Amino acid sequence: MTSIEYLNESQRIAVDEVIDQFTVDHNKLDEIVSHFIKEMRKGLNAPVKSIPNGTETGTYLALDLGGTNLRVCQITFLRSGKLTIKQEKYEISDSLKTGHSSKLFDFIADCIRQFLIDLGGVYDSPLSLGFTFSFPVDQMAIHKGVLVRWTKGFTAAGAVGQDMVGMLREALKRKNVPVKIVAIVNDTTGTLLAHAYENPATIIGVIFGTGTNAAYVERLENIPKLDLNCSGKMVIDIEWGAFDNERQVLSLTPYDEKLDRISLNPGEQMFEKLISGDYLGKIVHNVLLDLVGRNLLFSGRSSSGFDNIGAFKTPYMSIIEADGTDDLVYTKQLLEVELKIPETTLTDRQIVQRICCAIGLRAARLSSCALCALIKHIGVEEKGCAVGIDGSLFEFHPGFKHNLKQTMREILGKTADNISLEQARDGSGVGAALAALYAEKDLKDCSS
Ligand code: GLC
Repeated sequence: MTSIEYLNESQRIAVDEVIDQFTVDHNKLDEIVSHFIKEMRKGLNAPVKSIPNGTETGTYLALDLGGTNLRVCQITFLRSGKLTIKQEKYEISDSLKTGHSSKLFDFIADCIRQFLIDLGGVYDSPLSLGFTFSFPVDQMAIHKGVLVRWTKGFTAAGAVGQDMVGMLREALKRKNVPVKIVAIVNDTTGTLLAHAYENPATIIGVIFGTGTNAAYVERLENIPKLDLNCSGKMVIDIEWGAFDNERQVLSLTPYDEKLDRISLNPGEQMFEKLISGDYLGKIVHNVLLDLVGRNLLFSGRSSSGFDNIGAFKTPYMSIIEADGTDDLVYTKQLLEVELKIPETTLTDRQIVQRICCAIGLRAARLSSCALCALIKHIGVEEKGCAVGIDGSLFEFHPGFKHNLKQTMREILGKTADNISLEQARDGSGVGAALAALYAEKDLKDCSS
């Protein structure tokens, strides 16, 4: 980034002050990691005990209810880590996300039926389905998960406290769709399973996307609350998006506070709100509107479009941060054409770029704290391990991967280089189908 020619000293000071608030220094990293390790025990158990090794075979359906879309897949595992996949995406409208849950589940059942019809009709015997449900559930069994709370903009009434498999089964029955739901998994668990199918050294699955979370493989003897008299492994869904909701170590800027206040779940998912795709653009927006209001940006002018909540979307950050043109022409086009800001100067665009980079960097550094805390907790520092990571932020956000790794070196030293951060593909589809496969086989590691 070239140096900025500020209009005057007060503009420079104001922008520096904003950037300062988003800076996470080395001491803060350590403080967050320590607190994180202490909190680690709050994870939710997911009764998935078998980790793939690439030899699994069979045809399964997977249903992926994540943040933005609903996806139905048919996956055939061929052996040696190979598979074929057919899939269809369906958009979930805001009214479905925030209406009554029976409407949402009816919609899901309709989508599955349509998918089966497009596939060439209904099978003789119903196919088994693995359900990736990317929200916190209290998991009673591999096919029973009670919704603890909604996250990521969902509020559908009548679902919290209910078994999500039961609700889906009812909807399938209402709509006469012949499918057997045999497993429900979180997307992080799915990512872990799917990536282990490709690389058996995988012990952590992470999502950096619309939301953020991780799942890892824990030894059963380390889970005292299960009171199991046996050895073996189990997947734990951490739900790290809810880390430090009490704000003991996280420093929130006024821009984060505003985001939280007007969110659908104030005071919840505080860590996720500083990191994930659902929120980053909104934080940038809050900063830009503040600077406009103080006459420090765009000559104090906005546009009706730009003033609207949600006008600045997270993917815009990627365009702006990656803009390497001298005149920041892509940024100019975005601000002036897409967002209809009357006119921007190069200084304006440089300031916007600096702010996007600072908020993107903070997200990566905080993400790194969570990952390093988990790695320390598992105790894999020396021998290293593979981490399967999925999500738009990790895949597309410029610099995120690099900043994540750099910060890991800062926290873990050289051992960070023994930890392989790998792009996981379709954990929510493939992972759910693998969970269905295991549930079907009823593989039991533990015969207590
Ligand atoms: C939110 C959900 C969590 C999910 C994550 C990533 O944090 O609560 O269950 O894994 O988003 O999609």
